[in-house]
Amino acid sequence: MSQTRWYQERSKEGYYLRAKKEGYRARSAYKLQQINEKYNVIREADAVADLGCAPGGWLQVLVEAVGSGGTVVGVDLQRIKPIPGAKAIQGDFTVRATHQKLASLLSEDQRKGLDCVVSDMAPDMSGNYDIDQFRSVHLSEMALDFATQHLREGGHFVCKVFEGADFQPFRNDVKTRFKSLYQYHPPASRKQSSEIYLVAKGFKGKPEEKKASKPDDEEPVNPRPLARR
Ligand SMILES: C[S@@+](CC[C@H](N)C(=O)[O-])C[C@H]1O[C@@H](n2cnc3c(N)ncnc32)[C@H](O)[C@@H]1O
Repeated sequence: MSQTRWYQERSKEGYYLRAKKEGYRARSAYKLQQINEKYNVIREADAVADLGCAPGGWLQVLVEAVGSGGTVVGVDLQRIKPIPGAKAIQGDFTVRATHQKLASLLSEDQRKGLDCVVSDMAPDMSGNYDIDQFRSVHLSEMALDFATQHLREGGHFVCKVFEGADFQPFRNDVKTRFKSLYQYHPPASRKQSSEIYLVAKGFKGKPEEKKASKPDDEEPVNPRPLARR
């Protein structure tokens, strides 16, 4: 499809037009609004981390939801234009140094833990669904790993994943760490999209800390080896 045609198609979409009119940077803002209306995972004065936050639609929704007493931090490979009320860093979430930068941003707030971690991360599409699906699950596993380190007990986790072969093991992993788990396809997601949002509520708390070796800053955060494919 030519770029002009793509823009024409996109501009026909209701949520895209609505986002332009209402000042949201991305139509995906409505996905998070719908998730929160249904599951009430983000509340006033909460501290929230947004993984894969560019161009900033979710950050805007989060800032509105937590209000002036809340904390919103985000990370993305892309640089984003500042959003009042949110702090964002540019970095690759697959390397440990980025987790550490995000953690030090969070520590400025001196809270005991995050109330919610949301991840809308999506890999660059290769055109091969199996590979893209595997990469999506890989990013989600890293988001879960971060959530496990930084959520307070009772906190919540929202994560986009593509359906496919690697989805179920990931879902099971999330399920063991939270009291309840829901699967949701918000109305603002395209009908034909294979993305699913997992909404996990009531974090059970950190598992026993293993004696960690000193982390290498550029060491990839890789809970499951990518070499499988
Ligand atoms: C669908 S977009 C997020 C849209 C965002 N929720 C919003 O409302 O504006 C997915 C984002 O994931 C980011 N992403 C993908 N892989 C990443 C990685 N390894 N580290 C950080 N961000 C990543 C992409 O750069 C992209 O901006």
